[in-house]
Amino acid sequence: MSILKRPAETSAAIHDLIRHRWSPRAFDSKPVEEEKLRSLFEAARWAASSYNAQPWYFIVGTKDHPENYKRVLESLIEFNQGWAKNAPVLALSVAKLKFDDGKPNRHAFHDVGQAAANLSLQAEALGLSVHQMAGIEPEKARKLFDIPGLRSSGGNCDRLSG
Ligand SMILES: Cc1cc2nc3c(=O)[nH]c(=O)nc-3n(C[C@H](O)[C@H](O)[C@H](O)COP(=O)(O)O)c2cc1C
Repeated sequence: MSILKRPAETSAAIHDLIRHRWSPRAFDSKPVEEEKLRSLFEAARWAASSYNAQPWYFIVGTKDHPENYKRVLESLIEFNQGWAKNAPVLALSVAKLKFDDGKPNRHAFHDVGQAAANLSLQAEALGLSVHQMAGIEPEKARKLFDIPGLRSSGGNCDRLSG
């Protein structure tokens, strides 16, 4: 959780949840209650998606499961590890780039982004903050969590973000 408030100066009225969302790098290490954590990913689950394919997966690490948390942390680039190590929850998002019938889903990244936006706003509504990260080591994360790549047999997940 981050307690600082930084409302955006907007040129038109927008919802308070959007106005107050921002990406802190300082986090209270207090664990996030399981109910709240579940709400975040439920909000992500209810994002709109092309053909309702819901092409997102989230790998979640909390400090209750230190080994798993460590693996998510190690998937980040060093700079991000520096500040993110204090956050009580770290997660990786994974995009599934093919539909179930094997055809490419050109909108998978867009849809994972929508799910992440839902999650961020749900966090804001619960008094939590989210800081998204592109600065990860995808190949490392792939190995640590056994995430298939596009070119591996039977796999169809190719992109990761923190
Ligand atoms: C896809 C994505 C990747 C990002 N990657 C990083 C990152 O690797 N490290 C970091 O410190 N911030 C990262 N950010 C945070 C952005 O820098 C931040 O959202 C932007 O500056 C706007 O600030 P705000 O979120 O506080 O409004 C990322 C944000 C997004 C949406």
